[in-house]
Amino acid sequence: MSVKRIGVLTSGGDAPGMNSCVRAVVRTALYHGIECYGIRRGYNGLIAGDVIRLDEKNISHIINRGGTILYTARSNDFLTEEGQCKAVSTCKFLGLDGIVAIGGDGTFRGARALSKHGVNVVCIPATIDNDINCTNYSIGFDTAANTAIECIDKLRDTMQSHERCSVVEVMGRNAGYLAMYVGLAVGATAVLVPEENIDFDKDVVEKIRQARFNGFTHYMIVVAEGAGSASEIAAKIKDALDLDPRVTVLGHIQRGGAPTGRDRVNATKMGFMAVELLRHGKTNRVVCTKDGCFTDVDVDDALSMKRSIQKIEVDVLTAMTGI
Ligand code: F6P
Repeated sequence: MSVKRIGVLTSGGDAPGMNSCVRAVVRTALYHGIECYGIRRGYNGLIAGDVIRLDEKNISHIINRGGTILYTARSNDFLTEEGQCKAVSTCKFLGLDGIVAIGGDGTFRGARALSKHGVNVVCIPATIDNDINCTNYSIGFDTAANTAIECIDKLRDTMQSHERCSVVEVMGRNAGYLAMYVGLAVGATAVLVPEENIDFDKDVVEKIRQARFNGFTHYMIVVAEGAGSASEIAAKIKDALDLDPRVTVLGHIQRGGAPTGRDRVNATKMGFMAVELLRHGKTNRVVCTKDGCFTDVDVDDALSMKRSIQKIEVDVLTAMTGI
């Protein structure tokens, strides 16, 4: 089947680099003489027929912009059979030969539903949580990590001057990858992630004590939101050590900002690959990276894969915070 017209959407929590990816999808499509439509507001836009034609002009100078020009949403309506049927009708009405869906695992589940209804879909992983099991890399993680690192470096300056303890909450939903990466990068006193059992005395109190014995008078505790709230952890530290920790919840700032070079280039490669897959008649696939190479896997396989924090990260963290 020759592919003449495709759609592209962004769905779920936004991630820096989504725009770079949309741009790559559009430019690759146009390069092959394929028309490209932007579906706005994720799967809600597919249900409502909220589409715009994308060309060289409306995607110019977005490679460096955070957010997503297509807007995004988490669609409850699309979880219903009725919503999915409406979305399929939109695809038929518009004559879309395929869709590129950019987002996290919720986006992939939506794509799988579309695929079951006969719509060709290719997914691209984009989430700051980096919790997508089939890929080592997800668009947005690198930028979010660097944003969090920059913020924590700034926090450290004032914590050091005032000889304080800081408890910083990092996003990640149920996953601790972002917190672990950031914690290692800032040289945290302790890092708490949901994937590891937490023994508060050993993993927090003793680490702070040890740091004090080593001559430090400020402490940086990084907590993944899935491992507990920063204020609860701070209250427990106050109880145990009589310190008066300051709490910082980095929140949605981690999802904004210009994408890093790494996010831009990988998003561009992934956008290119997604269109190539559609052009070759592939559907229900996820573009991903494995062992440093770009490849693709079946959406069902992608959704059934389990991912955990790597042992080396835990071992490194233990050594870095253990003296
Ligand atoms: O999945 C991305 C993410 O930023 C998570 O890290 C976080 O838990 C969640 O989205 C926040 O969602 P919302 O944008 O609905 O506040």
